[in-house]
Amino acid sequence: MAKASKAQKVSITKDPSACSLVLVGMMGAGKSTIGRRLAARLGVAFVDADAEIERAAGQTVREIFDAHGEAEFRRGEERVIARLLDGEPKVIATGGGAFVNDRTRKRIKEKGISIWLRAEIPVLLERVMRNNARPLLKRGDPESVLRKLAEERYRYYEQADIVVDSSTGPHREVVDAIVKKLRAAEAVSKTPGPTRTAAAAR
Ligand code: S3P
Repeated sequence: MAKASKAQKVSITKDPSACSLVLVGMMGAGKSTIGRRLAARLGVAFVDADAEIERAAGQTVREIFDAHGEAEFRRGEERVIARLLDGEPKVIATGGGAFVNDRTRKRIKEKGISIWLRAEIPVLLERVMRNNARPLLKRGDPESVLRKLAEERYRYYEQADIVVDSSTGPHREVVDAIVKKLRAAEAVSKTPGPTRTAAAAR
């Protein structure tokens, strides 16, 4: 069953009415799938940052990595997320490396509520092996790549406002766990707009 991490004390001091909810975490954590469902539950828009980068570039993530390199992809990622955070409050799924970027992480911390979807490596591995869209996994044995990235990145993901386990259980339960945490932080009930408040109260 998906569970909210019990030890975590949620403390969100920013004005939630102006906040987007930003899903961060490793590839395969379910950020896009859960994000879409969370947005539907709250009655707000959902945006996948990688899809926005692809739209802006007219190329897939893989093509951007192949043709221009990771650094260029990261610059596009930073620009796109900055733009998304300036718009209407929404649910944003970010790529696994986004929250590692100091400027992006700072912007998300200032303007959004960050949610780390945490999952065990074997679960991530099983999910990412379903397609070959992720260029970083081509840099070696996918399990070793994931373990190394996790080792480098958890210190950043841990800075998210909310942590929710997405390893097991139906998506609905992961969304429930997020909404429960947001409510505990009063981030949902304070958010104006009848759709969002009413939908969240279900
Ligand atoms: C990346 C994760 C991918 C995508 C790109 C780089 C990463 O997104 O942004 O391949 O650095 O972990 P997902 O986390 O949605 O797979």
